Amino acid sequence: MHQHEVASRAGIGPSSIASSMPVSRIREIMDLAWADPEAIHLEVGEPDFPTPEHVVEAAHEAARAGHTRYSPNAGIPELREALAEKVTRRNGYVALPDQVVVTQGGVQALYLTLLALLEPGDEILLPDPAWPDIYMISHLIGARAVPYPLVAEGGFLPRPEDLERLVTPRTRAILVNSPSNPLGTVVSRELMDTLLGFARERGLWFVSDEVYDEVTFDGGFISAGSVADPNDRLVSIYSFSKVYAMTGWRVGYLVAPPGLAKLLTGMQEPIISCVNTPAQMAALSAVTGPQDVVREMRDAYKARRDDLLDVLDSGGLPCSRPSGAFYVWTDVSKAGLPSIELCRSLIENEHVAVAPGSAFGELGEGYVRLSLASSRENVIEGASRLIDFLDRSACISS
Ligand SMILES: Cc1ncc(COP(=O)(O)O)c(C=O)c1O
Repeated sequence: MHQHEVASRAGIGPSSIASSMPVSRIREIMDLAWADPEAIHLEVGEPDFPTPEHVVEAAHEAARAGHTRYSPNAGIPELREALAEKVTRRNGYVALPDQVVVTQGGVQALYLTLLALLEPGDEILLPDPAWPDIYMISHLIGARAVPYPLVAEGGFLPRPEDLERLVTPRTRAILVNSPSNPLGTVVSRELMDTLLGFARERGLWFVSDEVYDEVTFDGGFISAGSVADPNDRLVSIYSFSKVYAMTGWRVGYLVAPPGLAKLLTGMQEPIISCVNTPAQMAALSAVTGPQDVVREMRDAYKARRDDLLDVLDSGGLPCSRPSGAFYVWTDVSKAGLPSIELCRSLIENEHVAVAPGSAFGELGEGYVRLSLASSRENVIEGASRLIDFLDRSACISS
């Protein structure tokens, strides 16, 4: 019976859930930009720095030493121990190794977590604008994504009154992303306390996406775990991608209550079995080795941020002042164009690629995201061309 169903489905193509998945609109701009050899790339969401040399060396060393076999589902024990210690020391809350699950990047940590927590039809409160993959994940697992607004009037931060309005008896979880991609905002201790309280009162799971935890500029970042009550239903998501310039290595991790961590560990078996073993050894050297590499990259993003804000300010373009991550959320509504069209014209006419705000949700319309993960010269030149372009389009349309 089951086989018959599979056979007849093969004749009609992929599942409806797969074929109706929303696709990322950043990709379209990236493809256009890569086809233009002159393009200045401010659309990218990954560090422009190479992976630190000692981390690369650790992977070579691991492979030569024969660390080329499967690892346990939850990751290499030394790495889980080092990560528990990192979270305890740098994120400010006690985590034990058996609460840590090593994943294939932050994205797989999120996929795994939502798959474990949500039944089809369950609702999850997600930020709008947000990194689009979390909407795709929700779609793939059949959950209903309920966007909560992050808008200028609210300082681009979650507002408890919106959450109150949107929560229903079907809501099972809320996801908070601080520092935020694409907004660069950081949730304060007080607000984090309020958000955790909101989830606690309603028995919701709280998923805290902290993949930019060590890309923060002005102080003020705090991990949800450092504010949470011991019995809160909290899962915290981390990654090596952004902090250590390791996007292609695909190593991330999550911290969950021990029972859930055990369940998630078992679920890794049919999904990825384990993360690439030499990559885990490289991650171990990143987290236990010298941390000045993290500081140097952070300082570079901060210097670029300050330069970019000066350029945008003198060009009269309103924008966010990011306290973390490496993006500047810029209001381009004066162009009077859908942001995707603006991005296409900007590449064609100015050879500058930026990410359209609408790619991050309905409330992203009227904005573009400029990435600081490009050289200082590119950031300044790209922003200057954006300003000229907007001034010219304003003249034409008036
Ligand atoms: C907010 C946010 N969460 C999670 C991720 C996942 O990153 P990775 O899978 O490379 O760790 C990203 C990547 O862009 C992100 O911006």
